[in-house]
Amino acid sequence: MPAQSMEELVALCKRRGFIFQASEIYGGLQGIYDYGPLGVELKNNLKNAWWRAMVYERDDVEGLDSAILTNQKVLLYSGHEATFSDPLVDCRDCKSRWRADHLESDQCPKCGSSNLTEPRPFNLMFKTAIGPVDDGSSFAYLRPETAQSIFTNFKNVLDSTSRKLPFGIAQIGKSFRNEITPRNFIFRVREFEQMELEFFVEPGEDEDWHDRWIQERMSWWSEQGVNENNIELLHVEGDELAHYSKATVDLMYRFPHGLEELEGIANRTDFDLGSHTKNQADLSISADVEENRDSNTRLAYHDQQANTWTVPYVIEPSAGVDRGVLAVLNEAYTIERLENGSERTVLKLKPHLAPIKVAVLPLKRNHDEIVETSRRIKQDLQRLGLGRILFENTGNIGKGYRRHDEIGTPLAVTVDFETLEDQTVTVRDRDTMAQERVHLEELSAFVTERVR
Ligand code: GAP
Repeated sequence: MPAQSMEELVALCKRRGFIFQASEIYGGLQGIYDYGPLGVELKNNLKNAWWRAMVYERDDVEGLDSAILTNQKVLLYSGHEATFSDPLVDCRDCKSRWRADHLESDQCPKCGSSNLTEPRPFNLMFKTAIGPVDDGSSFAYLRPETAQSIFTNFKNVLDSTSRKLPFGIAQIGKSFRNEITPRNFIFRVREFEQMELEFFVEPGEDEDWHDRWIQERMSWWSEQGVNENNIELLHVEGDELAHYSKATVDLMYRFPHGLEELEGIANRTDFDLGSHTKNQADLSISADVEENRDSNTRLAYHDQQANTWTVPYVIEPSAGVDRGVLAVLNEAYTIERLENGSERTVLKLKPHLAPIKVAVLPLKRNHDEIVETSRRIKQDLQRLGLGRILFENTGNIGKGYRRHDEIGTPLAVTVDFETLEDQTVTVRDRDTMAQERVHLEELSAFVTERVR
């Protein structure tokens, strides 16, 4: 059962060190968050799971890590300068600003006034000055999506890897959007991370690949613990489609605040490669793109045998890391009523996502031999490369169990007096709370099997 409310998740994230308001001591910055000691682990684990599935477990995808600062021309030809905007309305009375398509009536949600301006387009891209003189003539954009640098590097990747169609380029990284009304915790923010794949295919094979990627991505979210019953497919229609898209299917997840987009899977056709390419007329590009006068590259695929050039179509599964973190936290958050009438909060994260894999807890905090043995066990388990193993010397085992339930640690290992005699430890399972004695010689294999 997912969390009942966003407030519960926000409170847990702050209390346990998953997510904090950025610049908090100076009053914060709206729509910007920092990931704390546990949040950074969870986020990295989610990104690693995506990278493994997209790059390591496939043989048709290469990785990329490109710059955030982006030449203005890239975002001119991509169409973002002209069209990447949301409709903005101002309340003339209380001076608040709103996204017109988020208003539920023609009244200001803050003061109730109907004295609102007509909607006008507000471009969402952040600009920054390049170089020491800020005279407005030399600026770059903070990228609004990671995708564009995949397109602009298309030829570099092709030339350096000799890939043949179909193949993809995957990237995880920060994107920035000056959202008019950031809200719902880390759901809609101004600085966020995306996990994007641009998968290049022969024109004509695009619709088939689009369907395949929708299925692939549904299965992947399910492997991260997101119940498929909490995801609905939305076929984006008409005016709602982005300027580059022929068809988009959104994976809509039941977040605590409602059904909203977790990931979009778009058929971007040859729009982007076409728009960044010179001599477009020679390449029979299907999309309606502006003639490119600034680039000298040909972002097309050359079939050596047939000596033909094709501008591939692109299928793009694009997921938000932060929305992914929110979804897996929401799915994992559980309140259980125990037999003795008390309650426990437990985060039933999949072990590969858990920020801490194993907590090693000495029964007595001042007993040298128990503490030393615990430290050694931590080091041995750490060397297995499963992720973070925590040695925690508080001496309060009951409290330790509760804390580790709440942050999703799958296993807790307790070292006690018996350990010193027979070399066994107690291993407690987060979900069942069952405890069993395991010999130290078998501990690595036991933990690996449960946590990997
Ligand atoms: N390259 C395609 C693209 O950027 P998008 O639907 O605008 O498409 C893709 O964004 C994903 O990025 C979304 O499904 C969402 O998960 C995430 N995302 C977009 N804007 C966001 C925001 N302001 N805050 C958090 N995540 C966001």
